[in-house]
Amino acid sequence: MARHSVTLIPGDGIGIETSAAMQEVVAASGAEIDWEVAEAGAQCMETQGTPLPESTIEAVKRNKVAIKGPITTPVGTGFRSVNVALRKTLNLFVCLRPVLSLPGAGGRYENVDLVIVRENSEDLYAGIEFEEGTPQALELIDFIDNAGLGSIRKDSGISIKPISITATQNIVRYAFEYALKHGRKKVTAVHKANIMKHSDGLFLREAREVAKEYEGRIEFEDRIVDAFCMNLVIDPGQFDVVVFPNLYGDIASDLAAGLVGGLGIAPGANIGKEYAVFEAVHGSAPDIAGKNLANPTAEILSAAMMLDHLGELDAASRIRAAVRSVYADGQCLTADIRRATGSDLPAATCSEFTHALVDALENLSL
Ligand code: NAI
Repeated sequence: MARHSVTLIPGDGIGIETSAAMQEVVAASGAEIDWEVAEAGAQCMETQGTPLPESTIEAVKRNKVAIKGPITTPVGTGFRSVNVALRKTLNLFVCLRPVLSLPGAGGRYENVDLVIVRENSEDLYAGIEFEEGTPQALELIDFIDNAGLGSIRKDSGISIKPISITATQNIVRYAFEYALKHGRKKVTAVHKANIMKHSDGLFLREAREVAKEYEGRIEFEDRIVDAFCMNLVIDPGQFDVVVFPNLYGDIASDLAAGLVGGLGIAPGANIGKEYAVFEAVHGSAPDIAGKNLANPTAEILSAAMMLDHLGELDAASRIRAAVRSVYADGQCLTADIRRATGSDLPAATCSEFTHALVDALENLSL
């Protein structure tokens, strides 16, 4: 088995606990990883004056593969999202989030097996915003008014939603290629093209164009985002690979995670042509941080995706098998899963759950 160098960004909040758990489980899987730990986030902001130091970006570039814990983003004021900056700087244009039922995790359904492919570089996440009352905001409002495009209240803040042909073609093609490579049957494109004709309308038009290249091999359909959400809740089994512009993909990821047991078990990855950064869907969960209560499954399953990416398929499947067996056994599960299953059994701490997983991995290898 080859050794791999991977950048680990533990992040903050529960990231400290879930990253440590992930490292223990990866070590027990037999994969040989040299971790290069790099900082990012609020504490880093205090000590280094930036939430995303150049040295962290360099570390990801050097190793090409990273796994990252969540990072707190101050709401409204303070620094901009480190996650968004990392995705932009490293051109991680794909956000990949598999959503799979995990028996014993308290999901609403047992038949969910879909993959969310979210565009990661533009849409309302472009970070182009105008604070209310600033000269730029007022100038933009006047321009729109003078051009006869509509009237915006003078006390409005404005966020720009760019959707490009280039980014849309890239993400939709990625979704189709993913479907081909993983034996999937259908790609669904989600949009609100009936209302936003020049952004979501473009997304739909380009998705249809790319779909033609795969005709006869992969089925294609499109859904309006609100109807998609309702259908996802009623019958998630009908979806296979689903491709979204950035914001809808973000919202749908949490919705889909909720169907299979919650954020504690939802893994993900940000992928570009050169680099890949693996990370759970959930955030830093300040309400439970530092209390040994977090569920590390999502970060551990993100690590399994990372091991697949590194070609360590055996270690990745052993981790997934161990996760399935601990959930099926049901004796040692964290509080979020106890709540989701409505169980009266005592909840395991993050470390107890991690030890159960390590034991399960050791038993698998017997
Ligand atoms: P969150 O995902 O941190 O928490 C939402 C709820 O789910 C909380 O009740 C939390 O306790 C629970 N939860 C989340 N992950 C869990 C886990 N592994 N085990 C057990 N319970 C878990 O979302 P929230 O509260 O909206 O965001 C908190 C901070 O995280 C914000 O600053 C946000 O910007 C940031 N964030 C960072 C992300 C990243 O770094 N990739 C992604 C999403 C949010």
